[in-house]
Amino acid sequence: MTITYYGHSCFSIKIENTNLLFDPFITPNEKAKHIDINSIKADYILLSHAHEDHIADAEAIAKKTNATIISNFEIVSWYAEKGLTNAHPMNHGGSKSFNFGKVKMVNAIHSSAFPDGKNGGNPAGFVIESKEGNFYFAGDTALTMDMKLIPLTTKIDFALLPIGDNFTMGIRDASICAEFVETKKVVGLHYDTFGYIIIDKQEAKNTFKNKQIELHLPKIGETIKI
Ligand code: NI
Ligand code: MN
Repeated sequence: MTITYYGHSCFSIKIENTNLLFDPFITPNEKAKHIDINSIKADYILLSHAHEDHIADAEAIAKKTNATIISNFEIVSWYAEKGLTNAHPMNHGGSKSFNFGKVKMVNAIHSSAFPDGKNGGNPAGFVIESKEGNFYFAGDTALTMDMKLIPLTTKIDFALLPIGDNFTMGIRDASICAEFVETKKVVGLHYDTFGYIIIDKQEAKNTFKNKQIELHLPKIGETIKI
């Protein structure tokens, strides 16, 4: 499985020949000016919640690629009103099989309103099971005991976790989350994009290393194999 990082919480994962894009926030991101959204391939766009820093480019990329949006019912309905009807609604605890594997929508402790103030439903994370491996994308969330439920049903090969603190888990809580979901590989997200969430990357690496957990912090635009 390859992961390409597009900054903030946006990344794409290629599973066999299917491209999954998560939480696209690229054109407003000062740190991602070198990324051309027209070059991004997407068969599916998964949205964890309705905040601007997770959906900013979803409409443009969905229109260009005709990707299927996977998100909660409220978010899918909001895009349907804009004419984007190629979408799949889910809600927490539900799972669904797609051609690339199985998606389960799981709890996240956060908030979720659209930039226009409309209700974005409840925020979520996703657990993806596929032939090439299983992973957990936490979305924006606090550390929660609910994370302990995930390894009861799915062996997590790696997790993509927010580490920027202030709005989400910080470094220490994300390292506990990795223990809760029983994974030894983490990709850090949701840090350094703006002032509130600037982190000490060395401290992050050390915190995870002390728990024998690999922390990957790819550069924006970098593709890593995991
Ligand atoms: Ni958020
Ligand atoms: Mn966010």
